[in-house]
Amino acid sequence: MQQSESFSRRLPQFPESLWRATTELPSFPRLDEDIEVDVAIVGAGIAGITTAYLLSKQGVKVAVLEAGVILNGTTGHTTAKISAQHGKIYDELLHHFGEEKAQMYYKANMDAKAFILGTVGELGIECDLRPESAYIYVEKTDDIQSLKKEFDAYIKIGIPGQWRDELPIPLKVKGAIEMPDQGQFHPLHYLKPLVDESVKNGAKIYEHTTITRLEEGGPPYTLSAYHGKAKVRCRRIVSASHFPFLDKKGLYFARLHAVRSYAVAFRPERPFPGGTYLSVGNASPKRSLRTANYNGEDLIIAGGENHKTGQSIRTHDHYEQLEKFGSEVFGIKEIPFRWSAQDLETLDKVPYIGQLTQGDEGIYVATGFYKWGMTQGTLSGMILSDLILGNDNPYAELYNPSRFKADPSVKNVIVQNADVAAHFVAGKVGLVQRKADDLKPGEGGVISHNGKRAGGYRDDQGNLFIVDTTCSHMGCEIEWNEGERSWDCPCHGSRYTYEGEVIEGPATKPLEKLEERI
Ligand code: FES
Repeated sequence: MQQSESFSRRLPQFPESLWRATTELPSFPRLDEDIEVDVAIVGAGIAGITTAYLLSKQGVKVAVLEAGVILNGTTGHTTAKISAQHGKIYDELLHHFGEEKAQMYYKANMDAKAFILGTVGELGIECDLRPESAYIYVEKTDDIQSLKKEFDAYIKIGIPGQWRDELPIPLKVKGAIEMPDQGQFHPLHYLKPLVDESVKNGAKIYEHTTITRLEEGGPPYTLSAYHGKAKVRCRRIVSASHFPFLDKKGLYFARLHAVRSYAVAFRPERPFPGGTYLSVGNASPKRSLRTANYNGEDLIIAGGENHKTGQSIRTHDHYEQLEKFGSEVFGIKEIPFRWSAQDLETLDKVPYIGQLTQGDEGIYVATGFYKWGMTQGTLSGMILSDLILGNDNPYAELYNPSRFKADPSVKNVIVQNADVAAHFVAGKVGLVQRKADDLKPGEGGVISHNGKRAGGYRDDQGNLFIVDTTCSHMGCEIEWNEGERSWDCPCHGSRYTYEGEVIEGPATKPLEKLEERI
């Protein structure tokens, strides 16, 4: 197939993460019979697998139910930094939660890091785990003030950190904060042994098993699987499915928003001095850097270009911007991988980990990791296994999903829902001129089909796929994502293949197929 003419020829034609490409994972059957377990965990990313590992280790009978294949969502497409330095978060936490809770957030993430290190030692895992200093930096004078406030917050909270005027990498900055004692690893080489251990401990794992419904009543609860009509009876439920698979009046769809970001992994011309890096200024684009071993040599992973899901049409541009950045700073010999990820953010930036709603005993959720899923996904396993086993956990209150702070949550609920409403209405009324016949091979987009708005994609062989562009979750209008060849919903981040199958929820049903010309 020819590559789209406007797309840089150095970038790989199809997205694939370095982690997925270099890990052989076991596969598991689809659930096609009724089962009974103590705990049903929905979702097999880092949060679900860590929870399964910890519970099964204590003899709890666990089933993990994954709609796709294991470790293929955000966990398989992260940049996998192990860090408590989450951008410029501490000044904000200090103001919204106070000193004690801001300090607790740091400790929680450092504890999660210690857990990863301990597990690597205990199970003898080889996952290219490297201790690194983490750096946040700004490049423009306009951003210095806010970085200084962040550094003041470090001092007040007692976080170890150093102000730096320069970085070890060849990038001119106006200021930086170094947080020592952080790290990076290969996330799937770390998690595969946790999957194996969980199975050894008796955990059952099912793939291609979409849970769509919680039946009335319980506990014990009964979950229905969309495919095969199988049922799972259990005393406890953990929703670790990224966007929660059930809401139960928790209003999660209004309390979370989805953000996409991009990564390229390249062989550099100039060496990388170590460390992990993140730009945090508002006056320049977001950039993230780290290294990873590939075939015995270090690649540099450059990430960034964040935007709300479904709100950027020419997604190729984002990869090209990262390529340009990599070329300018390090020089590029070759780019073996490019990929993108979807992250969820909560209203106050602290994840929701704990009981789904105040009234629902025994139903738990872990979501909204604010792009820091390696520590906060691990922490989810630590907190949820403690809650289920009846142990105290020092961080449960901070992460409690039922917390509600008027500032800034109320304002953000209004802003984010206004955004959703705009996509709901505006998407449906726009005039579309383009027709299916206008689509070239490899091209997709919104078209007019039988006088109505529809989504068309023509594959490289000329086959045409037309779907209804109404999202099956709550009816917003989806948009074409050319970089990943997917349909993305701007409202709550559901994503679909060009044939309309669900890639990522909260949607559980496919898009309506309008026509296929093969
Ligand atoms: Fe909620 Fe599309 S994801 S309407």
